[in-house]
Amino acid sequence: MKILLTGGAGFIGSHTAVELLSSGFEVVVVDNYSNADVSVNDRIIQAAKWQIKNFGEKPKTDNDVLPITFYYGDCRDGVFMDSIFREQEIDAVIHFAGLKAVGESVEKPLEYYDNNIGSTLVLLNVMKDHNIKKLIFSSSATVYSADNQMPLDENSQTGNCTNPYGWTKYMIEQILQGVATADKEWSIVLLRYFNPVGAHASGLIGEEPNGIPNNLMPYICRVAAKKLPKLNVFGNDYPTKDGTGVRDYIHVVDLAKGHVAALSYLYRHNGAEAINLGTGQGYSVLDMLNAFEKVNNVKVSYEITARRAGDVAVVYANPSKAKKELLWEAEMGLEDMVRDAWGYMVKK
Ligand code: NAD
Ligand code: UD1
Repeated sequence: MKILLTGGAGFIGSHTAVELLSSGFEVVVVDNYSNADVSVNDRIIQAAKWQIKNFGEKPKTDNDVLPITFYYGDCRDGVFMDSIFREQEIDAVIHFAGLKAVGESVEKPLEYYDNNIGSTLVLLNVMKDHNIKKLIFSSSATVYSADNQMPLDENSQTGNCTNPYGWTKYMIEQILQGVATADKEWSIVLLRYFNPVGAHASGLIGEEPNGIPNNLMPYICRVAAKKLPKLNVFGNDYPTKDGTGVRDYIHVVDLAKGHVAALSYLYRHNGAEAINLGTGQGYSVLDMLNAFEKVNNVKVSYEITARRAGDVAVVYANPSKAKKELLWEAEMGLEDMVRDAWGYMVKK
C-alpha cells in the first residue's frame, strides 16, 4: 500500500515515514522544506534501515532500496499535486503539511490561513479528482476550548481558539466534516495530538525548530547543550502539585505508530472521526526538567518567571477512544522521551 505524506520531512512526518517503511508500506513524501532540511530525506532512510535491522522481521542489508520517493514542492500548487497523483498510485494520504508556531500565527495570520487552509483545499480537490478518499489529518489538542474539564475526550467543547494557528486546525476539522457529510465514500480521521516530544532511538531524526524554540522540550535540550543560558519556567502559581503547568507529553514514535494504526482504521470506517493521541498522563514542567537532568545526567539551569499569556494550568487527554477504535496506546514513558530528545541533540 502506498501512502502520501504531505509535510513528511517534518518532525512528526519523518518519524511516521520510518514507522511506515518498517511496517512494509510504500511511502511518498511531499514537502516544500520551509521547516525541514533536505538532509532529512537520507536520514529517514537510514533511520528506517536501522529500525528494520534492529527490530524488523526480515534483517536487511545496507544496500536494500526502501520504497520511498521524495517530491520537493508546495501543497498549494494544484498542478504539482496533481502530477504526483498521476505518477504514483496513492492509496491514502496523511496530511502533516502546515505552519505550526502559535506566536508567529498571531503576527502573520494571513500566512497561516493561506498555508494551512489553502494546502488542505488543494489536496482535497486533487484527491477527489483521483478518487482517493482516505485521509488522516494532523489536528491538535489546541482545538479544545480552554474551559473544559480534564481529561479532554473527543466530545469536549471545541472552538474559542486563542490564536490563528488554532483556528486553522479548527476550521480544517469543520471542512473535513463537511466533505465527509456530503460524500459518504470519504473516510477521514482527525488526529488530535497532545504534546509530541522525543526523537527516534537511532538519533538520526528529531525535532528541529527554527530559531529560539517556543516549546518546552526543545528549549530544555538547548539549555542542557549550553546553546541557551537558562529555561524560563512560566509560572509556579498554578493549581498543580508543584505550581507549574501540566501537559500530556507523548513520545513522537508512539505518535507515529498511532498513524499506522489510524491507516487500518480508515479501511473499517466511513465519515470523519476525531481521535485524541495522548497518553492520559500529565507531567509538570518541573517533572520534565527533573527527569531530563536525572536520566541524561546533565544540568538544566532554570528560573521561575511570570506565566506565559494564553497558557492554562493543566491539559491532558482521555486516550480511550484511540485504544478502542485504533487498537493503539502509547507505550513509552517519560524516561524514553527525555533520553531520546537528548540523544538526538547530542548526535546531530
Ligand atoms: P513540522 O514543521 O516539523 O512539519 C511540517 C512540515 O510541513 C515541514 O517539513 C514543512 O516544511 C512542511 N510544509 C509546511 N507547509 C507546506 C506546504 N504548503 N507544502 C508542503 N510542505 C509544507 O511540524 P510537525 O511538528 O511535524 O507537525 C506536523 C503537523 O502536526 C502540523 O500540521 C502541525 O500543525 C501538527 N501538530 C503538531 C504538533 C507539535 O507539537 N509538533 C502538535 C499538534 C499538531
Ligand atoms: C503549545 C502550543 C499549542 C500546541 C502545543 C503542542 C503555545 C501557546 N501553545 O502548547 O498550540 O498544540 O504546544 O505542540 O505555544 N514552558 C515553560 N517554559 C518554556 C516553554 C514552555 O515553562 O520555555 C511551559 C509552558 O508554560 C507549559 C509547558 O511548558 O506549561 C508546555 O509548553 P509548550 O511546550 O509550549 O506546549 P503547550 O503550552 O502545551
